[in-house]
Amino acid sequence: MNPADKLLLRSLSGETLSRPPIWLMRQAGRYLPEYRATRGKAGSFLNLCYSPELAVEVTLQPIRRYGFDAAILFSDILVVADGLGQKVGFEEGRGPVLEALTGDEDLAKLLGMAGFHQKLAPVYEAVKGIKAALPAETALIGFAGAPWTVASYMIEGGSSRDFAKAKSWIHRRPKEFAALVELLVEATGQYLIHQVEAGAEVIQLFDSWAGALGHAEMLRWSLEPMKAIVARVRMAHPQVPFILFPRGIGAGYLDFARAGIGNGLSLDSGVPLDWAWTQLQGPKTALQGNLDPQLLVAGGQAMRDAAREILGKLGRGPFVFNLGHGIVPETPPEHVGQLVELVKGWQG
Ligand code: CP3
Repeated sequence: MNPADKLLLRSLSGETLSRPPIWLMRQAGRYLPEYRATRGKAGSFLNLCYSPELAVEVTLQPIRRYGFDAAILFSDILVVADGLGQKVGFEEGRGPVLEALTGDEDLAKLLGMAGFHQKLAPVYEAVKGIKAALPAETALIGFAGAPWTVASYMIEGGSSRDFAKAKSWIHRRPKEFAALVELLVEATGQYLIHQVEAGAEVIQLFDSWAGALGHAEMLRWSLEPMKAIVARVRMAHPQVPFILFPRGIGAGYLDFARAGIGNGLSLDSGVPLDWAWTQLQGPKTALQGNLDPQLLVAGGQAMRDAAREILGKLGRGPFVFNLGHGIVPETPPEHVGQLVELVKGWQG
């Protein structure tokens, strides 16, 4: 099979298909018993990310079970902070815990990329292993977090409700904040170039917390750094398709569509379908999304109706079926199977 014939690559090059490709954010994860078993073997979550064999295994689990059209590298957006030398851990029930950056001095310790690729080499190994093991028709997605979202964890020291510390850097330490974002643009660009060279065919950038920024701040700290990363990667590999996911930005999606930087724009569940179709749809941009992950938990008629609504509205153009955010651990695995069957059986 010619790699360009993979459904995901066709959608991202602007083709409208008789049925769109489907993959789901967090398709590998705790809702799957086989993931929990491998995760148990790995000990810590980071150890799972840095053990190529185990990372390959959990990436493939949902592909074997459901036949998704794309696999996404199993890793985490915070390995970039770890690779830069910040202390990162994941605690059961609490999520990520980082030794928060407090200012200049901490930042100075991170600046520079010594040891970065060495630390992240197991991720590149995993990409190679996944690529070698995937079925011929399955595309391989690499990914990274966008600078604002990663910086927010680095400054807050973990998840946050109001991003008070990260925003106070934006407003009260603008030079340091800009230096941190600049570092992340550089590191993330290089990280993604390595993923592409190891076999990733598509890159998704996650800006999960873009919606916490005001509009002008969003343009400056979400859109601009993402643009810079895409430009860097494309200097080395001009053809790599990007999917951008600036979650929760509402009408700001217009700015992303007009910037024309990605091949795919991933929509959160709040984006109205008719609006997306008339305003965001363009010959060069495939839309991706946007089923509410809670509908995948609910399943049944509610899930099927919502999925058909999305297919009917957005499937008229280049489209990738996905959720509006990641699968949650409470999701019954059989609902995922039913959704995949529905999308694969859909005829536009
Ligand atoms: O999508 C996939 O299947 C690939 C793997 C993947 C993970 N994290 C694995 C993971 C991807 C693409 C991510 C991205 C990620 N990580 C994002 C952006 C996407 C989003 O969800 O908004 C963010 C914000 C993170 C940071 C992160 N990692 C948080 C906040 C947490 C804790 C919350 C949670 O779900 O537990 C993690 C941990 C994490 N990353 C887990 C997995 C499977 C669960 C940890 C475990 O198995 O113990």
